[in-house]
Amino acid sequence: MVMPGRALNLVFLLMQVARAGGSPAACAPCHRAETAAFAHAGMTRALERGKNSAILQANPKLTTKIGGYTYEIARSGNESIYTVTNGEETVRFLVDWAFGQGAAGQTYVYRYEDRWYESRVSYFSALHGLDLTMGVQTITPHNLIEAAGRLTGPAEARQCFDCHATNVAKTPGPVLSDMIEGVKCERCHGPSAGHLTTVRAGGAKQSAMRKLGAFSAEEMSDFCGQCHRTWSQIAMNGPRGIQNVRFQPYRLGNSKCYDTADNRIRCTACHDPHRDVEMSVSAYDAKCMACHSAGAAPPTSASTRLCRVAVKNCVTCHMPRLDLPGAHMEFTDHMIRVVKANAPYPD
Ligand code: HEC
Ligand code: HEC
Ligand code: HEC
Ligand code: HEC
Ligand code: HEC
Ligand code: HEC
Ligand code: HEC
Repeated sequence: MVMPGRALNLVFLLMQVARAGGSPAACAPCHRAETAAFAHAGMTRALERGKNSAILQANPKLTTKIGGYTYEIARSGNESIYTVTNGEETVRFLVDWAFGQGAAGQTYVYRYEDRWYESRVSYFSALHGLDLTMGVQTITPHNLIEAAGRLTGPAEARQCFDCHATNVAKTPGPVLSDMIEGVKCERCHGPSAGHLTTVRAGGAKQSAMRKLGAFSAEEMSDFCGQCHRTWSQIAMNGPRGIQNVRFQPYRLGNSKCYDTADNRIRCTACHDPHRDVEMSVSAYDAKCMACHSAGAAPPTSASTRLCRVAVKNCVTCHMPRLDLPGAHMEFTDHMIRVVKANAPYPD
């Protein structure tokens, strides 16, 4: 006998399977290597709903005072509420979206009168608390609404979601009905519905996905650069100085090690986009030694030299971690070089 409840559950399950077309669960049965560690990778969780934010759940009440305003993000039932007051007036917003999984921090995006705002304060992991969001340090608010957040136009709001999530509609403003939170398989590999249909029917050859592993170093830099910013974007429009340390394609492209055609220096030589970033410095030695060792095949454009100073932990000296003001985080300078004491930042 089939209980009505079970029939309902089955319909619900089928709907979930259909919706999961773009999510890692749909790929897991056949691409285990790429899917296994993916759930923990930083990019997977680059966007969460405010109510699901692990940071807000672990910190049910965050407060700070900046320039005469008191800020609070507090849990209320299953939601988080953002409250800003100048002592006389108070505004409250539902935290709709949490951007960033927190290597540096997390910024909140909410709607008010049908427009999109970026919270003026963010959570910073290094502080275990709130401080001004990157980029707003020089903006003086004129009223409570401005003190709470920065108004972002529809195009800018759409870009935020497009870099932090998957299947964001190509409309002038953010349309989020088909969106999957975080940078998931389809965001990098493209639509997979056709692939899924043919491989399940046993006809993989007719519906092969584009092979991203065939990219050259330069193509890979530009591919990752659609979100991490490309070399030419930063070269043409800046920012100059230490502010560009977080744009790895630009920094790496300025290093003498970089060769547009040598796969040993492409982003994926050092990073597996399907896993969390490798934190052990010694793990990168082999990457350097692929070129900088007596037995290495010469790169296409130049010969490589050996280090007279050390034989291990190369990145600790040649890829220094530099403090980015306002980010409360040190970024790894991808401009691989000999760092001279007191030399200015080479931008
Ligand atoms: C039923 C098994 C199956 C599922 C499910 C599946 N794939 Fe595949 N996929 C394959 C097979 C088999 C190939 C090899 C096709 C070929 O050689 O032409 C392949 C090839 C690929 C390739 C290209 C690999 C290459 O070397 O050219 C990519 C990228 C890819 N799949 C991504 C995905 C993503 C993303 C998903 C989930 C949305 C997914 N696949 C779901 C079986 C599957
Ligand atoms: C769709 C946009 C997008 C693309 C394409 C993209 N990234 Fe990312 N990446 C992000 C975002 C957003 C974050 C920040 C995640 C966070 O902390 O919330 C990130 C974070 C990272 C991190 C740090 C992860 C951690 O665990 O702290 C690495 C490493 C990285 N990306 C490498 C790459 C590489 C390599 C490529 C190209 C193969 C790439 N990314 C392509 C958006 C993207
Ligand atoms: C062009 C793509 C792009 C756009 C647009 C974008 N981001 Fe990001 N964001 C990234 C990438 C890549 C990273 C990871 C590296 C870094 O910090 O630059 C990141 C990192 C972050 C982080 C830090 C996460 C962490 O802990 O490391 C936050 C918070 C964030 N973004 C919020 C936002 C918000 C809010 C917006 C819109 C107002 C936005 N981003 C727009 C690509 C983008
Ligand atoms: C941030 C972008 C990004 C995300 C997200 C991502 N991949 Fe990849 N994937 C790549 C890149 C880049 C390569 C090529 C790596 C290399 O250089 O060999 C790749 C390689 C692959 C390959 C080998 C075939 C090929 O294209 O070279 C498969 C299969 C694959 N990914 C499946 C997946 C699945 C399944 C998911 C989700 C669980 C996923 N990927 C998520 C960027 C991504
Ligand atoms: C020669 C090796 C190497 C290459 C090539 C490389 N990276 Fe990295 N990357 C590193 C190291 C080392 C770290 C620091 C890891 C840690 O946290 O200990 C890092 C960290 C990062 C981070 C985390 C934020 C930070 O600054 O610490 C991002 C994002 C990133 N890389 C993106 C990229 C992108 C995009 C490319 C291609 C343009 C790239 N990387 C190429 C070695 C490399
Ligand atoms: C694709 C091959 C390749 C890889 C991988 C590579 N390099 Fe290089 N590197 C070169 C080339 C080519 C030069 C310039 C010619 C020379 O110095 O031999 C260079 C130059 C250097 C220099 C001298 C730079 C200067 O300003 O004079 C240092 C230091 C260096 N590399 C360290 C590293 C470290 C550390 C790594 C790993 C994180 C690394 N390289 C990875 C090819 C590579
Ligand atoms: C303790 C810091 C440190 C570590 C660790 C280190 N280096 Fe160096 N490296 C230096 C310094 C300092 C110089 C400049 C020395 C000089 O001018 O004589 C240098 C020079 C170099 C050069 C340029 C050589 C030349 O002839 O001008 C290369 C290439 C290089 N290192 C690669 C590496 C690689 C690869 C590793 C890891 C196997 C590594 N380094 C580990 C500090 C370090």
